[in-house]
Amino acid sequence: MLRFSWILLAAAAFAADTFDQQAAVAELRKKIAGKESLPAEQVFSNIQKMKGVPAQRLLGVMAIGYAKSLGVTCTHCHNPEDWSSDEKTPKKIAREMSDMSRTLNEQLRGIALLKDRTPPVTVNCTTCHRGATKPALNLP
Ligand code: HEC
Ligand code: HEC
Repeated sequence: MLRFSWILLAAAAFAADTFDQQAAVAELRKKIAGKESLPAEQVFSNIQKMKGVPAQRLLGVMAIGYAKSLGVTCTHCHNPEDWSSDEKTPKKIAREMSDMSRTLNEQLRGIALLKDRTPPVTVNCTTCHRGATKPALNLP
């Protein structure tokens, strides 16, 4: 029994180590073939915030806007066996972060003296995270 759980643990660690993000995204692209431009909520099963975003774009946001900006791979937020699952806390935090970013952007638009900036002033995940799960409080 002990040895069996050790093997399971080792297998889980191996799976985590070998997660291939490019392959995962390619597989998802194949899965949504023909439905790329449909709203995400019609293509995926647990969309609460990104309603109306084309399915193909959601995958781009996941890879660049979310994973890269936090310096993680998909598995930080997802169990790749079930992308729709909310079992990981960071995925649930990310939804709240998305609401927070929207609020910040509304406040920014209220700063009249910033209105002439091009491109328009925007806060997104990268603004704070810059490749890390914990935004910096000090410069190195
Ligand atoms: C920082 C956390 C985070 C990371 C990293 C992340 N995701 Fe997501 N993902 C989410 C959240 C949050 C949602 C749900 C969005 C909503 O509710 O509108 C989601 C939804 C999805 C969905 C739709 C699932 C369904 O059926 O409802 C897919 C597919 C997906 N992500 C793929 C990926 C892939 C592929 C990667 C890596 C390239 C990735 N995600 C990285 C947070 C993340
Ligand atoms: C205004 C700054 C700011 C913005 C914008 C922002 N975040 Fe965060 N985020 C934080 C802070 C601060 C924390 C807490 C870090 C800590 O101390 O653990 C955090 C934590 C998180 C965590 C938990 C990290 C972990 O430990 O797993 C996730 C996931 C996350 N943010 C995702 C996002 C996503 C996705 C976006 C864009 C939709 C976003 N954040 C935008 C400041 C920000």
